[in-house]
Amino acid sequence: MSGQERIELTRTDITKLAVDAIVNAANTSLLGGGGVDGAIHRAAGPELLAECRTLGGCPTGQAKITKGYRLSAKFVIHTVGPIWGEIRGEAELLASCYRSCFSLAVANRLKTIAFPAISCGVYGYPIPAAARIAVREALHALKSPDELERVVFACFTEEVYRAYRRALEL
Ligand code: APR
Repeated sequence: MSGQERIELTRTDITKLAVDAIVNAANTSLLGGGGVDGAIHRAAGPELLAECRTLGGCPTGQAKITKGYRLSAKFVIHTVGPIWGEIRGEAELLASCYRSCFSLAVANRLKTIAFPAISCGVYGYPIPAAARIAVREALHALKSPDELERVVFACFTEEVYRAYRRALEL
């Protein structure tokens, strides 16, 4: 199967997905927040926050992995996207989020990983540009067939879903 065929686009709440890992769009404290961060912590239960407290935070563009606890997903990979307009080099930092998550997935021999639209909510990243970065990095990660099998983009809003559809068609 081509890389494109191993990318799945779905309108869903990411906390419902039974994949090896779901990605959390966190902040540098890793101590929870609103948006998808809040949804994942609510669904995973208090043990997730307890484990996050041991991680010592996470710099923008990097990622850390925890167990999934009450989630259907076995693991949560927490990454911290750039805040649009706050610092220069947002595109490279967002790409680095995806690469860091894929590296952690491969290092932990995970086969399926689901992403929300990192930085596209509170952090204000323009959705079309963010979707293109996400798709580009996913296609690159899927090039090595003996590693990742499937990448799921869990789109919470119609706007995000349409942007990812366009990014996949181009
Ligand atoms: N499932 C999938 N996607 C979701 C869900 C969900 N349950 N809830 C929200 N989203 C989508 C949003 O619609 C948006 O498209 O996730 C995308 C990312 O939005 P945010 O959650 O606001 O994340 P981000 O923009 O990266 O901002 C991160 O927000 O919640 C805080 O602690 C977090 O400080 C951090 C900041």
